[in-house]
Amino acid sequence: MVTEETWFAVDRFFCDHLVPDDPVLAAVLAESAAAGLPDIQVTPNQGMLLHLLVRLQGARRVLEIGTLGGYSGIWLARALPEAGGLVTIEANPRHAGVARRSFERADLAGRVDLREGSAADVLPVIAAEGSDPFDLVFIDADKKSTPVYFEWALRLTRPGSLIIVDNVVRRGAVADASSPSEDVQGVRRFIKGLKGDRRVQATAVQTVGAKGYDGFAIALVAPASPS
Ligand code: SAH
Ligand code: DHB
Ligand code: MG
Repeated sequence: MVTEETWFAVDRFFCDHLVPDDPVLAAVLAESAAAGLPDIQVTPNQGMLLHLLVRLQGARRVLEIGTLGGYSGIWLARALPEAGGLVTIEANPRHAGVARRSFERADLAGRVDLREGSAADVLPVIAAEGSDPFDLVFIDADKKSTPVYFEWALRLTRPGSLIIVDNVVRRGAVADASSPSEDVQGVRRFIKGLKGDRRVQATAVQTVGAKGYDGFAIALVAPASPS
């Protein structure tokens, strides 16, 4: 029978063979654990997927909402050209402190702009700065606010940009219309809002692995497909 143990074993096999050993990332995970941060960062093979998507986009500017200790941020920022930049938002000062050290450790401090504060406060500031649009946005903070962050992502991107939303399945909870969880209801509103939204072409995919049963959504900012 296929159990969660199988999902873990397959992820271990994939990560062992597809993701190079990386002392910097290992140290970042160790420091995050030592600092008591929750162990909820993307897995190594998911990190590589983010990295590949940034490269596929030919992205110069990437926005992340929810930095934690900087693990996914390193994967994103390493895919950027020298002149590119990652802007990443983190509300928890302790998480932001660890992340700052992570980006220094990865020699990425010059390419990463870490904004400490609640995304609801920081996103309007970023918009007001009037910088070039982001080529890719990774939404991975408080799930109840996903619909709000998605609207900001649309404001801060251009046609052809990619918006990725983590944790849209949560062990299947997303299918439970009567879930009492604000987070689940936030993700449900986000997914329901995609119906008929001509600003994007989007899908969502379930995943299993070392982080259990979850999934992500991915949206390409219009122009709409010819169909
Ligand atoms: N992207 C990270 C994991 C992020 S975990 C990785 O894969 O490595 C979610 C993070 O979002 C936590 O660090 C949490 O403190 C942060 N967060 C929660 N609510 C937030 C908010 N309103 N604004 C900004 N960050 C928030
Ligand atoms: C949680 C948050 C995440 O971003 C994630 O990838 C997994 C779990 C959480 O809040 O439990
Ligand atoms: Mg996540």
